[in-house]
Amino acid sequence: MIKVAVAGAAGRMGETVCGAVEGAEDIELVARADPALGVELADALADADVCVDFSLPETALPNVRACLDAGVHAVVGTTGFDLDAAREAAEAGSANCFVAPNFAIGAVLLMQAAQTIARHMPECEIVELHHDRKLDAPSGTAKRTAELIDAAGGNVHEPIHSVRLPGLVAHQEVVFGGEGQTLALRHDSIDRSSFMPGVLLAVRKVGGLPRRFTVGLEELL
Ligand SMILES: NC(=O)c1ccc[n+]([C@@H]2O[C@H](COP(=O)([O-])OP(=O)(O)OC[C@H]3O[C@@H](n4cnc5c(N)ncnc54)[C@H](O)[C@@H]3O)[C@@H](O)[C@H]2O)c1
Repeated sequence: MIKVAVAGAAGRMGETVCGAVEGAEDIELVARADPALGVELADALADADVCVDFSLPETALPNVRACLDAGVHAVVGTTGFDLDAAREAAEAGSANCFVAPNFAIGAVLLMQAAQTIARHMPECEIVELHHDRKLDAPSGTAKRTAELIDAAGGNVHEPIHSVRLPGLVAHQEVVFGGEGQTLALRHDSIDRSSFMPGVLLAVRKVGGLPRRFTVGLEELL
């Protein structure tokens, strides 16, 4: 059994993760940490092998440091925090940290397809659309998609377009333009359950990763 603590357990994602962990036969939920539940993360790590963090942009890094200091592997879905600082903390520590800006397989496949297309049709724009309570913009997924397209030789036009509306969950479009033609890729997470297979995969794999710090679900597939 892998013992898991969830940070941000009272939030939209945290609650869904707690449900998914409780439904997995090989993973045990040992703690729900969230100020809204009156449980500090420091008090929730004693029994945990892995901590899953879906909290706030400003709390993700202190939470990662607390996990690594306690020797607990961290699986982080929170976006909008300093990844370089998390990398430094992980590389200096004795536990692993895995970060994914998007745990949905469809979003990862979109990024991979975008890299392939960018080699042939480099000019593109990204539109990301999320619910109106999302704190960061552009989204972590959009920033990661832009990095990957740039690395493949594409040219992502500035700015990335961020739409925030009630009714949305997490959506992204990449539109490529070439001579006399356009090509659009679109991914829609219409329910937070879309992220759960990726989160559970990361919980199962984080302890065995060859590097202290790893970014991207594609690294686990
Ligand atoms: N990587 C992905 O696939 C993915 C998918 C969806 C959302 N997200 C990201 O996950 C994060 C959470 O999203 P959400 O919609 O669940 O937000 P939310 O606001 O519903 O939940 C955040 C929770 O964190 C709690 N919190 C505040 N301080 C904390 C602390 N110090 N320690 C632990 N918990 C603390 C809050 O009380 C709240 O319950 C956001 O950064 C969002 O962008 C990532």
